[in-house]
Amino acid sequence: MPEAQVSEWENAISDRRDLLRESRHLEGASPQKILRWAAESFGRKLALSVSFGGAEGMVLLDMLSRITDRARVFTLDTGFLFEETVRFREEAMKRYPLELEVVGPEMSIEEQVEKYGERMRSCNPDLCCQVRKVEPQRKFLKNYDAWATGIRRDQTSQRANTPVVEWDDFFGVFKISPLAGWSAAQVMEYVREHDVPLNPLLSQGYKSIGCAPQTRPVAPGEDERAGRWPGSEKTECGIHVVNGRVVRANP
Ligand code: ADX
Repeated sequence: MPEAQVSEWENAISDRRDLLRESRHLEGASPQKILRWAAESFGRKLALSVSFGGAEGMVLLDMLSRITDRARVFTLDTGFLFEETVRFREEAMKRYPLELEVVGPEMSIEEQVEKYGERMRSCNPDLCCQVRKVEPQRKFLKNYDAWATGIRRDQTSQRANTPVVEWDDFFGVFKISPLAGWSAAQVMEYVREHDVPLNPLLSQGYKSIGCAPQTRPVAPGEDERAGRWPGSEKTECGIHVVNGRVVRANP
């Protein structure tokens, strides 16, 4: 391997270590402080992922738009989203100065049915998430240094150890989770205080919203993610690491 390339890699790893060390003071900091650090550290190379389903992404979008207009917002449009989500996305973005990139899969639903079989017509777990969320996100993040996400530690036991800042080896970028330490109540308090727009389905019994064929409303008292992939063991789509491992399918 050429000497120059080795030293370039060594420098990149050492920069990464420095940033991670520097980010340690953010543990316990407010989401706004964490986002400000991310905006200052990564500038245009920071991408905020917003599903336009849950309140978390909307809160981060609102916070980030008060900090910078340089970062990019992206959303993964699987082609299986609720019409309400797509309509809400267009409306909500009129309010924010940040640029949105709608990231889609390479294959249409018809093409994936042809390639993998009829089960892929109805948003079959794992493989469908892989083709329509994980791979498009991987391709998109190749042009970025960090992504920010709305996951919270208290959502599931799998998310309980989410660091505020980590190196995301699968996507090859930093992963920032500014809301890691917040509860659902804190998120909703911010929504009320700043009049943040929300997906209308959230007031129709839905608590966590993903693809339409794999999302149902939840009953009062039910877990907030109980309506995702109902009737299956699946709890993650594959864009988030679970217990140090990314849960996803092999096509
Ligand atoms: S999911 O992985 O199970 O779908 P969830 O709905 O809890 O995740 O959302 C958690 C975070 O994952 C969101 O705040 C957002 O950062 C990211 N995310 C999930 N789905 C999408 C999407 N379709 N587009 C962009 N980001 C998403």
